[in-house]
Amino acid sequence: MVRGALSAVLVAAAFAGTAFAGAKCSTTQKCPEDTPCCSLYGDCGVGAFCLGGCNPLQSHKFESCVPNPVCKGGKYALDSLDDVKTIDKYLGDPSKTNWQSQGLPAIYTDPNGGQKSTLLTLSQGTSGTLLASTFYVWYGKICARLSTAQGKGVVTAFILMSDVKDEIDFEFIGASINQGLSNFYSQGVTVYTNGKNLTVDGPSTLEMHDYCVDWKQDDLTWYIDGKESRKLERKDTWNATSGRFDYPQTPSRVMLSLWPAGLPTNAKGTVDWAGGEIDWNSPYMQNGYYYARFQEVNVECYDHPKGIQTKGDKSYKYTDRAATNNTIAIANDLVVLGSLMGTGEKPGEAPKSGDSKPTGNVAMVPGGNPGGGNRAEQTSAGQTQPTDASSPNSPQSTNEVGGDSQTTFNQGGDKPAAAGAGSALEPGLGRISGSALAIVIAIMGLITL
Ligand SMILES: *[C@@H]1O[C@H](CO)[C@@H](O)[C@H](O)[C@H]1NC(C)=O
Ligand SMILES: *[C@@H]1O[C@H](CO)[C@@H](O)[C@H](O)[C@H]1NC(C)=O
Ligand SMILES: *[C@@H]1O[C@H](CO)[C@@H](O)[C@H](O)[C@H]1NC(C)=O
Repeated sequence: MVRGALSAVLVAAAFAGTAFAGAKCSTTQKCPEDTPCCSLYGDCGVGAFCLGGCNPLQSHKFESCVPNPVCKGGKYALDSLDDVKTIDKYLGDPSKTNWQSQGLPAIYTDPNGGQKSTLLTLSQGTSGTLLASTFYVWYGKICARLSTAQGKGVVTAFILMSDVKDEIDFEFIGASINQGLSNFYSQGVTVYTNGKNLTVDGPSTLEMHDYCVDWKQDDLTWYIDGKESRKLERKDTWNATSGRFDYPQTPSRVMLSLWPAGLPTNAKGTVDWAGGEIDWNSPYMQNGYYYARFQEVNVECYDHPKGIQTKGDKSYKYTDRAATNNTIAIANDLVVLGSLMGTGEKPGEAPKSGDSKPTGNVAMVPGGNPGGGNRAEQTSAGQTQPTDASSPNSPQSTNEVGGDSQTTFNQGGDKPAAAGAGSALEPGLGRISGSALAIVIAIMGLITL
């Protein structure tokens, strides 16, 4: 049976040669049937392409994407990596895992008091680190307690983003430590006047501060340390050209990231915006990386909008290309993929020993950079403790690099990771560059699992 489940993708792969592996998707081009899922980064694939971030409007069909798991309120103490799965290991069961990662998150223990938090790291030649919630929020109050990375060109982000690219942002440029940039987007349309600087009282880099977005159907408020910093009213976002409110209104994941905006390979506007090119010998780096520290995320889910199609309570589904608030349905469909060969329509089963796969290449993990298939965690004993909160321990010391021994992961595209590193994790949509990487599984001949 597994062979059957895999074959839809793989047989097609074998015959389609290289053309499909690089299929792209956009507002004018949907993904082909064999790699039906359009990732966050605008490329087509299977597996993780069909999970979080899969754009239903640009995928082969709405059903190609796995439905969005509903909001799950609570306090997420980011004090361990037990609740984090790397993107190449997560198959879509939100009841088991609340966070999906790309890059290298690590646990940091504060030498004064032992409080643990999660470091998102950014070292040279990587695209930084991203944590994305496996659940979606469809209106709610979402708060994060964090300290930002310092240095020109590095950007810390706490954002909400939907699969059709509605977005609500807090972004922190490492060159300016007393402000955060608030922003919002509707369906990925870049409007440069939406951004607004907000003041942070004290260096955002050395101290933890609380950042909240209170997202309601009719208004959106950004808070810093409990104080209202900005408010947006839905009624003020009417766009007569598109005939809709350019207001974030679709179910969104919570995303935490640290990413390299200041790479020479990025657009000049992006580099300038971020304060210049990144210095890879910066005093703000520790253990070879820049880092942002996230201590806690709190999610309060608001009641679902009244009057929407309700056929269950487990997932949000897009029902119309308009992708406006009145076209999202609540359903019971929850799809867990059998393997990274699965899609929303054909989730497949887990491979069993003795199953064989045909030859082919297929993109399974969008954005590349799964962090070597493992995460870092510091050892608790025998670690040199830093003298202040600005110098983290060396969490990478126990990291195992290397993935599943049965598969070969290659960076997609023709550039090494270092050259394309800026492409993968950048949440500000106005600045997404064209050359996103994908992890492609290369299957050489018939491999028996
Ligand atoms: C925010 O502040 C920076 C300077 O720190 C400035 O370059 C940028 O234009 C400001 N952005 C907005 C949207 O006002
Ligand atoms: C209105 O929507 C159109 C089409 O999406 C977009 O090009 C334009 O920038 C929007 N206008 C404003 C003022 O946001
Ligand atoms: C969509 O949002 C508008 C503005 O809040 C509201 O009037 C309308 O009822 C919403 N529609 C649904 C189906 O939730």
